[in-house]
Amino acid sequence: MTKRLHDKIAIITGSGRGIGRACALRYAIEGAVVFVNDINADNVAKVTAEIIAAGGRAVAHHCDVTDPAAVQALVDHAVKEFGRLDVMFANAGGSMPKATHLTSVEEYRNVVALNQDAVFYGIHAALPVFMRQKSGLFLTTASGAGQNGVADLAAYGAAKAAVINLMRVIAVEYGGMGIRANSISPGPMGTELMRSWLATMEGGADAFEAQVPSGRLGTEEDIAVAAAFLATDEAFFINGVCLPVDGAVSALLASPRPGKPL
Ligand SMILES: NC(=O)c1ccc[n+]([C@@H]2O[C@H](COP(=O)([O-])OP(=O)(O)OC[C@H]3O[C@@H](n4cnc5c(N)ncnc54)[C@H](O)[C@@H]3O)[C@@H](O)[C@H]2O)c1
Repeated sequence: MTKRLHDKIAIITGSGRGIGRACALRYAIEGAVVFVNDINADNVAKVTAEIIAAGGRAVAHHCDVTDPAAVQALVDHAVKEFGRLDVMFANAGGSMPKATHLTSVEEYRNVVALNQDAVFYGIHAALPVFMRQKSGLFLTTASGAGQNGVADLAAYGAAKAAVINLMRVIAVEYGGMGIRANSISPGPMGTELMRSWLATMEGGADAFEAQVPSGRLGTEEDIAVAAAFLATDEAFFINGVCLPVDGAVSALLASPRPGKPL
């Protein structure tokens, strides 16, 4: 049986670990050639080797995606080697929570540089390639913090909201040329970091997890499965969406709830 991403050429930024790594492994299993990108060169080498050892195809390319010239070189690398590019997946991102009044202008700019500007650099570099091909998918890992307000995540939330809309604009502007642009919005993830942080909170991880309608925290593989599906040809008509992969957390009504009767 032909693999769903057979021979697709995909760049996944921030794929040296976490969600990006899981997406890189999944894409390779589905038949794609994955350009593994991260600022951490050791992790790029590790994930690339992991994919190749499992019989997949991967190319290592480490760089800092907040540098537009470096992102252009990343796209050029893929096009030079394979003559095309099918998926530009801007996944690198993240931020430490901080109260807004304590956030400096420089800290704000750094978070926006990684979570918002770098996504545009990928679009800027790959759009001419996609236009020439009359095909291609832009994908980005957004966040629930970009869909609704989350305290202490002003810069991150603003940047993630911006990229959700950036993808919509690209879909509307270039959909007629066979180009797609979508985002994925992960819900609360059961990463090691998240679990150890939750352990310091009242009720711990269990109390937190119990509030997720689907009954558990997300996994990196949950995101990877969605990201792979969106890259298939069958998903052609899915364009300009922000897909929550969050166990129905974003479907919950955000409203004050009445207490028990007196
Ligand atoms: N984990 C979550 O709970 C969660 C929830 C919602 C959204 N997200 C988003 O998902 C994406 C991946 O998150 P994760 O949890 O896997 O994070 P992670 O920190 O485990 O992985 C992010 C990767 O990006 C790389 N990176 C950071 N700066 C870079 C740069 N300038 N250039 C290139 N690579 C860089 C890091 O080295 C790291 O390998 C991020 O965009 C994040 O905002 C994560």
